[in-house]
Amino acid sequence: MSKKSFATLGIESSCDETGVGLYSSDRGLLAHKLFSQVDLHAEYGGVVPELASRDHIQRTLPLIRETLKVSNIKLEELTGIAYTAGPGLSGALLVGGSIAQSLAWGLGIPALGVHHMEGHLLAPLLDSSKPQFPFVALLVSGGHTLLVEVDGIGEYKILGQSLDDAVGEAFDKTAKILGLGYPGGPALAHLATRGEEGRFYFPRPMIDRPGLDFSFSGLKTFARNTYIKFPEEKASIAKAFEVAATETLTVKCRRALEQTGFATLIVAGGVSANLTLRQTIDEMAKKLNVNVHYPGPEFCTDNGAMIALAGHYRLISGQRNDHYEILVKPRWNLEELEAI
Ligand code: KG4
Ligand code: ZN
Repeated sequence: MSKKSFATLGIESSCDETGVGLYSSDRGLLAHKLFSQVDLHAEYGGVVPELASRDHIQRTLPLIRETLKVSNIKLEELTGIAYTAGPGLSGALLVGGSIAQSLAWGLGIPALGVHHMEGHLLAPLLDSSKPQFPFVALLVSGGHTLLVEVDGIGEYKILGQSLDDAVGEAFDKTAKILGLGYPGGPALAHLATRGEEGRFYFPRPMIDRPGLDFSFSGLKTFARNTYIKFPEEKASIAKAFEVAATETLTVKCRRALEQTGFATLIVAGGVSANLTLRQTIDEMAKKLNVNVHYPGPEFCTDNGAMIALAGHYRLISGQRNDHYEILVKPRWNLEELEAI
């Protein structure tokens, strides 16, 4: 590596995935490794915070070693360490934060706590065809549904958000009602491919009202009531739910694009892996002549690469944690971030 290059290690531990990534200023993403705790939490039907923290403790260092090895980079060559400081489960965040801060201290390099949703928001920039600022971002994960006006890195204005369940949470809860495993989103999407479109019609929450906020908690109740009446029609119920959720998201994206006049949309976070959502958004964007960017499939759900990237931009602009305090922010508003 040349002397002037930067190599940022990223650590993600906000929920049920341990992710590590390594981003270099001259060669881009060098490697990333992930360990999913899905099997650990499956028997409880959801994430058990204490088990998540304990597992992150076991996984993080081996994943860091593997990532460095695949990248052919030595620990001493790192120039900064980024970790997810929030939002997320506090115990889980503390694991990543402690490891990042201790390593940085030992190596004499800066550490920086980054915002998990900024990681998702910037994940499409890992792609070779990068979206250009400004753009509208739809962030759809298990904990958040946000429509954001993005004028640059750290220049975020929240245009709309869910007033109750996040859309990923609605997928997971509806999947649970239908007796599908955890995590439910991908399982529900899979079942929906066998459903009959139009067999049931679910409401599109809040699209008849002005504004860009969402509400998804009613959809799962609708799913439950339909399932009680038609228990043999799971696949068509899954389909009706998926179509209603994705059309609602698409209508609000269209409104946000019209309102801002922006010509670029990015869609990121776990639910952006959903193919029905991508199809519906692509059709809308084509009509509006808008470019849409999605992260690659492995960068939609939680991963360390997006944290390495977000941390990299901030670290090279001089941002870092002030001192050796292990900073975590389980609740953290995206709009509070500093611009770079
Ligand atoms: O971004 P993410 O990995 O974690 C959070 O930050 O929450 O998102 C996880 C969410 C879960 O609710 C999961 O069910 C959902 O994303 N998800 C999907 C799909 N893949 C993941 N939802 C619908 N369709 C999918 N293909
Ligand atoms: Zn996430």
